Amino acid sequence: MKNRLIVALDTDDGEDIDWLSGTLIELVPWVKIGFQAFSTLGTESFPWFSGRGHLIFLDLKFHDIPNTVARDVGTMTRHGANMINMHASGGVEMMQAARISADDAAYEADIPKPTLLGVTILTSIDEEGFQTHFGSERQLTEQVVYLAKQAKEAGLDGVVASPLEIEPIRKACGDKFLIVTPGIRPKWAEVGDQKRITTPAEAIDRGADYIVVGRPIIEAEDPLEAAEKIINEMKGA
Ligand code: C5P
Repeated sequence: MKNRLIVALDTDDGEDIDWLSGTLIELVPWVKIGFQAFSTLGTESFPWFSGRGHLIFLDLKFHDIPNTVARDVGTMTRHGANMINMHASGGVEMMQAARISADDAAYEADIPKPTLLGVTILTSIDEEGFQTHFGSERQLTEQVVYLAKQAKEAGLDGVVASPLEIEPIRKACGDKFLIVTPGIRPKWAEVGDQKRITTPAEAIDRGADYIVVGRPIIEAEDPLEAAEKIINEMKGA
């Protein structure tokens, strides 16, 4: 289960990141680097994370014209990111270009292809917010499934979605399509701005391949203990 937990290192404090990664590596291989950590550490940190034994999920949620995203994803592949995401709403052409670029970069550098994920609808948005602000005729879950199918068609490996949408995504995209779920809150943690949430055990029960957890671990008094509790909850699923 520890290989299915991704810890979001959401801070721009380099010392904190160093401490968190050094503490968590004992239990957790996957770390997620978002804009905050990336702004402090840059790509030079990738070999440093890998050297420690971490796998890197680079969460920069690319969303731009196909040529730009292809270059971004190719560059990050060359630097050694193991998992990279982009907004699925950027379109099939954008995601296809990213796939080709990542695969070419990996081939040239003789490294494994990175896992590419499409971000569907952020887990901080609920049905009411979606209906009010997105101007879509669809229900939120329909839109998530629609974007997941586009990501699959473009050759991505999977999507980022709420654990609440796993079942319809599985039905539409099959068992091999990866589903990575943030919006995870153990019963003992604060919910914060997340809306479409479940517990770690429920996400695993519903069939998540990976769960992403940030604040309940990195803001805990003892992050290693919090990670261990979550892994045990996942095991109990
Ligand atoms: O602190 P928390 O557990 O809410 O962190 C969740 C992480 O997952 C954050 O880094 C957030 O940016 C990310 N994320 C998300 N929803 C998505 C995609 C990524 O919450 N759909």
